Amino acid sequence: MRASNHLIGVVNFLTFLLSIPILAGGIWLSSKANSTDCIKFLQWPLIVIGVSLMVVSLAGFAGSCYRNTFLMYLYMWAMFFIIAALIGFVVFAYAVTDKGSGRPVLNRAYLEYNLEDYSGWLERKVSDPGYWAKLSSCIRDSRVCSKMGRTFHGVPETSDMFFSRKLSPIESGCCKPPTDCGYGYVNETLWGPGGGLVGTNSDCARWSNDQRQLCYGCDSCKAGVLASLKHSWRKVSVINIVVLILLVIFYVIAYAALRNNKRMDNDESYGETRMTKSHPTAMHF
Ligand SMILES: *[C@@H]1O[C@H](CO)[C@@H](O)[C@H](O)[C@H]1NC(C)=O
Repeated sequence: MRASNHLIGVVNFLTFLLSIPILAGGIWLSSKANSTDCIKFLQWPLIVIGVSLMVVSLAGFAGSCYRNTFLMYLYMWAMFFIIAALIGFVVFAYAVTDKGSGRPVLNRAYLEYNLEDYSGWLERKVSDPGYWAKLSSCIRDSRVCSKMGRTFHGVPETSDMFFSRKLSPIESGCCKPPTDCGYGYVNETLWGPGGGLVGTNSDCARWSNDQRQLCYGCDSCKAGVLASLKHSWRKVSVINIVVLILLVIFYVIAYAALRNNKRMDNDESYGETRMTKSHPTAMHF
């Protein structure tokens, strides 16, 4: 086997290894989607890309072991499309989670989330009443809010303790009323009239002490979902970008090695034809 074939084999093996973090990222997103984000369709492209990468790199590895040129060309084409798909996915992930972040609130450690801060395709999708009905019941079933309760030496936490907690976007947006509504703290998911002024925020009327309602109908809950999604997608995007850079480097190496193989093949066959042609004439003499 030629050195360049060895090189292609090594590159394919490394590519195979790269498919693991991509797949892991996709699986992590879907496991997280079940517990908090509840958005289950966005991780599928990532899983498909990860699996394709795995299959194609194994095919490329086999191709380089058996010196199968056809497999190698198939590999180069497939790899080209996978890299293109991954670039498309990274751009898409950034584009849909581009805008919006939590807002700090006076005297609170947690951030609050406003739907006006978000826009674009994903915001419209999440705001769609039909989709939101599914999403909010998924969040309710995930029991994020009921798991939010904390006790301190057997005593439920006080308002001061609650206000100095860091909350996840879902907990902040879906499990409690927005601070500007002026409700008074009873426990994490139970709020009484605060005596203060009740804000003009339309979420104030949507809040309910019914433990099956809470703020699941609030715009702040939708914003919380979008913020949560952004967090986890940004993490996965970092992995994807690193993998993408390595993939491009490996691709260039494999391409150069394949070109080198082809040139050597051409040289050899040129040499062979010259030999066979020159033989008969040599026999005459
Ligand atoms: C708050 O109190 C209500 C009523 O007692 C209870 O149903 C709910 O589980 C409590 N919330 C938490 C997070 O413990």
